[in-house]
Amino acid sequence: MPFFLTTLLVFLILEVIVSATSAHALDIVDLRKSFNKKRGESVPALDGVDLTIARGEVVGILGPNGSGKSTLVRAVSTLVIPDSGRVEVFGIDAIARPREVQRMINRVSVEASFFKKLSAYENLVYGAKLYGVTTGESKPRIQAILERIGFDLKRAGEPMEHLSRGMQQKIALARALLTSPMLMLLDEPTTGLDPRSKKDVQEVVRTIRTEHDAAILLCTHDMAEAEELCDRVGIIVDGRIVALDRPQPLKSRYQQNGHLPSLEEVFMAVTGSSFEEAEQRAADAEEVH
Ligand SMILES: Nc1ncnc2c1ncn2[C@@H]1O[C@H](COP(=O)(O)OP(=O)(O)OP(=O)(O)O)[C@@H](O)[C@H]1O
Ligand SMILES: [Mg+2]
Repeated sequence: MPFFLTTLLVFLILEVIVSATSAHALDIVDLRKSFNKKRGESVPALDGVDLTIARGEVVGILGPNGSGKSTLVRAVSTLVIPDSGRVEVFGIDAIARPREVQRMINRVSVEASFFKKLSAYENLVYGAKLYGVTTGESKPRIQAILERIGFDLKRAGEPMEHLSRGMQQKIALARALLTSPMLMLLDEPTTGLDPRSKKDVQEVVRTIRTEHDAAILLCTHDMAEAEELCDRVGIIVDGRIVALDRPQPLKSRYQQNGHLPSLEEVFMAVTGSSFEEAEQRAADAEEVH
C-alpha cells in the first residue's frame, strides 16, 4: 500500500478512536419541543434543556408530573423529533442518525411495547434479535437475567397480557439488559413495583453501573432511589432543568439555619419556588392586559 494511503488510514483510525473516546455518553444542548394543544395553542414540554452525561455516569431526573421527563427520554430515544437543539449519543447526532443511536440505547418505560399474545420469553428473544443477538446467544442469558431480577421463571412462558404490570416492567428491564446498551434510559423503572421487586430492580441498576459501565439516565419520582443510585441529580420544572448536581452539594445549597435538607425538601423548595414564579409571571401578565 502506498505510504500516503497508509498514513491516511492511520489518521482516519486515530480520528475515529479519539472521537469515540472523547465523546460523552449523552450531550443535550438547548433542546426544545412543543406540543399543540386544543385551540391551536402550543405548549413547551422541553424549554431549552442542556444536559451532559459522562460515560459510566448515572444521572437522575426528578420533576413534577408533566414537567417533561418522558419527553426528554423520548427525544433521546429518537421517538420524538425535537423542534430545535442538539442530542448526541456517544458523539452521534440522534436527530440525523437515529438508527445508529437506537443501537446504542435502550429505554425502559411504563409504556414498554410488547407482543401481548407472545410469551415473555418469546418477546425477549425477539427483542435481542433486533439488536443482532442470536437465539443461541440469548437463550442462556435470558434465564440468568430473569433469575437476577427476581422474575419467576415458571411464568416466562405465559403470554405478556397475562402478566401483571410489575412483571411486564421486569421483562422490559430484562430486554434492556439482554442487549447490553451503552446508554440506558430508565423512565420510572420502579413505579408500580412492590417493595421486593423495587429492591431487585434497583440492585440490577447498580450492577449495570458497575459491571457494564453503561451510562444511565433515570427519571424517577422516588427520592431515595435517586439519591442511592445517581451520581448527579437534576430537577426539571416546566421543561427546564433548574438544578443539577451531586446529591450532597445540591442539599448543601438549600441548607437553612444549619439544617441539611433531604432531597425531598430540596425538590419541594425548587419546584415550589418555580410554581410561585410561574404564578407571579401569570399575575404580571394579567396586569399588563
Ligand atoms: N404526544 C403528546 N401530545 C401532546 N402533548 C404531550 C405529548 N407528550 C407530552 N405532552 C405534554 O408535554 C408535557 C410534558 O409531558 P411528559 O410526559 O414529558 O411529562 P413527565 O415529566 O414525564 O410527567 P409524569 O411525571 O406524569 O410522567 C405535558 O404537558 C404533556 O401533556
Ligand atoms: Mg413521564
